[in-house]
Amino acid sequence: MDPVRKDRQKMALYSEKVMDHFRNPRNVGVIEDADGIGEVGNAKCGDIMKMYLKIDDDVVSDVKFETFGCGSAIASSSMATELIKGKPVKDAMKLTNKAVAEALDGLPAYKMHCSVLAEEAIQLALEDYYKKHPEKASEESSKEESSKEESSKEESSGE
Ligand code: FES
Repeated sequence: MDPVRKDRQKMALYSEKVMDHFRNPRNVGVIEDADGIGEVGNAKCGDIMKMYLKIDDDVVSDVKFETFGCGSAIASSSMATELIKGKPVKDAMKLTNKAVAEALDGLPAYKMHCSVLAEEAIQLALEDYYKKHPEKASEESSKEESSKEESSKEESSGE
């Protein structure tokens, strides 16, 4: 098979969104005074992803990434940054690789692990943020406690 045809066949495996985010990745770069940084790698393929977060008033005000990896990893990082930028930290914590892949209109099954790097890098960056700002971690857990209490009150009052 001629190489151009082979390349076209390979690209047909990827959605338009994957190709768009791969060719024009959003939020590439470094945040010098980041509040949280997360770096992960995949031992099998050797790809590396690094996420930088800026957090203001419990909102992800800025996010940037550096990815040394395959096209799906670049597209996943780019989409993941778009999904959490401007969102509350508590929403960013819930971001899953599945949500990233869905937002990209899917990834081939053998490329799903690339989206896992994006989820893990963001989780690590948030952990780093909480390590640097332990007061925020305790605020967050006390908010969770009180919302649990509220919902259990609602449940018992509804009986
Ligand atoms: Fe390594 Fe995609 S092949 S992250």
